[in-house]
Amino acid sequence: MKVGFIGLGIMGSRMAANLLNNGYELSLYNRTPDKAEALLAQGATWCDSPEEVAKNVDVLITMLSTPEVLTSMAVATPESFVHSLKPGSIWVDCTTVDPKTSRMMAEVASARQIHFLDAPVAGSKIPAERGELLFLVGGEAEIVGRCAPLFEVMGRKTIHVGGNGMGTSLKMVINLLLGQAMAAFSEGMALGESLGIERDTLLDILLGSAVVPPFVAAKRDKITQNQFDPEFPLRWMHKDLHLAAETAFAQGVSMPLANAAKETYALAKQKGLGDNDFSAIYQFLHKREDVE
Ligand SMILES: NC(=O)c1ccc[n+]([C@@H]2O[C@H](COP(=O)([O-])OP(=O)(O)OC[C@H]3O[C@@H](n4cnc5c(N)ncnc54)[C@H](OP(=O)(O)O)[C@@H]3O)[C@@H](O)[C@H]2O)c1
Repeated sequence: MKVGFIGLGIMGSRMAANLLNNGYELSLYNRTPDKAEALLAQGATWCDSPEEVAKNVDVLITMLSTPEVLTSMAVATPESFVHSLKPGSIWVDCTTVDPKTSRMMAEVASARQIHFLDAPVAGSKIPAERGELLFLVGGEAEIVGRCAPLFEVMGRKTIHVGGNGMGTSLKMVINLLLGQAMAAFSEGMALGESLGIERDTLLDILLGSAVVPPFVAAKRDKITQNQFDPEFPLRWMHKDLHLAAETAFAQGVSMPLANAAKETYALAKQKGLGDNDFSAIYQFLHKREDVE
């Protein structure tokens, strides 16, 4: 099976490495070619454009940043890569986008006899490296089954949520909670510390307690070392909350808390924290003067 991979950022580069390590023949493209170097040294093949990747593969995997970037590369012009995929081939999009975008991609693909799966992932840089991601998949069961061996080398579990757009629907709900939980925790820390409770005492008591979700414990070192190297960049958390807010508007669902969280991440991004890990919302809420 020939596999193509487009988008070699924090997540894509690690997912592609796991495919290579498990013997898949891999063709690659990334806007910034340098990021492909380690993978090329491991035996992957470089292509000069997304279209060149698409035309030679049985399965194409995309791991890009936003719906806008995905749309412009995949379908926007007659040169976009969907037109280069072979009829009968499979396109698996792992980008976190909104369900509407996934369904639009599926429609364009289907008109060209290409099978489409939306397959965003839960899990960040380290799970991606270890092949321990959780795949949330929307699309036809038979196509999900054909891709199962690929999901198995990149992830620990695959959940087939339903038809196209259902993988990205579930992912949207997960990130909505993730973003709000990190912001709520940071706010609690800011208040506790302002009242004179030692930071370590707060961390010892709150992390592992029933009121804080388990993922926050993994952010402890970033908080204590004031080092927010990105695993999941803050700008993408802002993007995901925006997509959730837009989708809720279309669904007639009210999300006052999510919108407050979204604007808090927007302010942190404006202060220059967009390329940091999303847990830098702690830094933003805790000591705003640090980020002026
Ligand atoms: N990091 C996480 O923990 C995590 C977890 C789950 C899901 N996600 C989602 O997975 C996706 C990728 O995340 P990531 O953390 O890997 O992000 P990233 O490191 O910023 O990588 C983004 C990728 O998109 C490409 N890209 C961005 N703008 C582009 C443009 N205008 N034209 C062409 N290519 C462009 C980048 O190319 P360059 O290399 O040239 O910039 C890179 O390959 C996002 O949708 C994110 O929300 C991330």
